[in-house]
Amino acid sequence: MQNLKNEELKRWIQEVADLTQPSNIYICNGSQEEYDRLCNEMVASGTLKKLNPEKRPGSFLACSDPSDVARVEDSTYICSVNKADAGPNNNWADPVEMKSKLNHLFRGCMRGRTMYVIPFSMGPIGSPISQIGVEITDSPYVVVNMRIMTRIGTKVLDVLGNNSFVHCLHSVGAPLEPGQQDAKWPCNKTKYITHFPETKEIISFGSGYGGNALLGKKCFALRIGSNMGKNEGWLAEHMLILGAESPQGEKTYVAAAFPSACGKTNFAMLIPPTTMSGWKITTIGDDIAWIKPGNDGRLYAINPEAGYFGVAPGTSEKTNQNAMLTIRKNTLFTNVGLTEDGDVWWEGMTETPPAKLIDWQGQVWTPEIAAETGRKAAHPNARFTTPASECPSIDSNWENPEGVPISAFIFGGRRATTVPLITETKDWDHGVYWAATIGSETTAAAVGAVGQVRRDPFAMLPFCGYHMGDYFAHWMAMGKKIPNAPKIFGVNWFRKNDEGKFMWAGYGDNMRVLEWIIGRVKGTADAVETEIGFAPTFKDMNWNGLPITEEQFKQLSKVDASEWTVELKLQDELIEKLKDRLPNKFLEIRKSIEGRFRSAKAALNEVTL
Ligand code: OXD
Ligand code: MN
Repeated sequence: MQNLKNEELKRWIQEVADLTQPSNIYICNGSQEEYDRLCNEMVASGTLKKLNPEKRPGSFLACSDPSDVARVEDSTYICSVNKADAGPNNNWADPVEMKSKLNHLFRGCMRGRTMYVIPFSMGPIGSPISQIGVEITDSPYVVVNMRIMTRIGTKVLDVLGNNSFVHCLHSVGAPLEPGQQDAKWPCNKTKYITHFPETKEIISFGSGYGGNALLGKKCFALRIGSNMGKNEGWLAEHMLILGAESPQGEKTYVAAAFPSACGKTNFAMLIPPTTMSGWKITTIGDDIAWIKPGNDGRLYAINPEAGYFGVAPGTSEKTNQNAMLTIRKNTLFTNVGLTEDGDVWWEGMTETPPAKLIDWQGQVWTPEIAAETGRKAAHPNARFTTPASECPSIDSNWENPEGVPISAFIFGGRRATTVPLITETKDWDHGVYWAATIGSETTAAAVGAVGQVRRDPFAMLPFCGYHMGDYFAHWMAMGKKIPNAPKIFGVNWFRKNDEGKFMWAGYGDNMRVLEWIIGRVKGTADAVETEIGFAPTFKDMNWNGLPITEEQFKQLSKVDASEWTVELKLQDELIEKLKDRLPNKFLEIRKSIEGRFRSAKAALNEVTL
């Protein structure tokens, strides 16, 4: 404490310690020695299991309380001064009332625990796009995860100097009385994940799970970040960033938004099919992009994170070899199965499951038990936390403080029907409309029902920290400020046929879609106009090595007027909700899409007559 130079930080630490009454205060320096020590302490306390160093060097497994496995959207609040600014897309609470409720919950909540102070940088330390925060937490699990996911420690304090920073306060909400045995995964059934956009504060209580507790990620980089972006003229987005290097060696960077657990990590680390010779994908980020206009009229993006907090189930050598190589070592696993030889396993990791393991809830699991009871080895939202620097496809520019120039935005949802494999929107504003109206089937990344279609504008529904109508207006306004705006595309990898089977192989084959997108950006690929934008015909795509028929592609690309009539009606729900603050242009675009379907129908009737 004595060595701390930042007066605001010293005062805040004292204030939090007075309120929460920890037994110790520890300022994290970010060293390997500190990380190793905390991991060893958590092994001793039972929170972590050390994995077999011959199988998974430097790696650990944590299994959470079964009630604390995902983001809790119902308990997540934006506490803006004016309720209207939070918008109908957020839970709102009055900041003064919420602070008083939290004060009550935090009083004495760190008793018997160490209070860790984690200075962290979102983005490369010292980059003009980066931002600094400090997280105070009573969870060593949070400290070690934050060390992988962000840049932490003394080096951050050095660049912070005496400047202000984002205050991120977290407690698992489980004080320990003298002599009381600690839980392996302490947490509290009362949970609050709260954001105060005007004062740039985050206060989180009761959960140890990633998105609720690693406050640099969703809370800072997206909810507070989106507010900062609106006020300062930049974008904080739920997007991966990748580089695509053509056979001629030309690199194009694109950013893509998909809702949680819809394959962003897989797309970011894609390995093109060998039959698409010469294409290479490099990875900048898999979840979050901070994007600012550059002096040349283009948009530049950084990945504010330093690691990947990826969904484990479904990740395999076949679906994401780069992720499997990244997690070979120095990785923290949460809620996956533990094999008899001290390694990890999850559904989809290998075709043949291990004969026996300990599942994420600590019970014996066998394929037979799974067949009988449906019990999973890993929770569907089980995660790996792994350093980006270990990723074989990492882009050489991933820590470039200036960011990388973005040539295209891609928006996708998980839709069994209606939405074609690929659409190029007509212009920036139409692209904003497309992104704003995407629907997606819900996944296990958040607590609640799985598989229901909900509107997830820009894949930001759980993460936009202010009124969604203002957010669309901000995007439209940004388009006017950038002369060389990226083109905007919509994709759907998840369309199903009448038998309920996926029609598109996805994964590596998504390179075919990406190649067409890059062709459109460069002006070398052809397209036809549809009611909802532009689309490739069969001959416009590279099918080398993929046995797909023209008829199958037609089914994947179909724009069915009756399905779209329903879709546009469903979009009305969103429009109705946000109408007070929707830009006029938004409603004009909506009308023109309806008009195009009407003219198409009229033309069809004429032909039939
Ligand atoms: C995530 C999420 O953890 O989107 O990235 O839920
Ligand atoms: Mn995410």
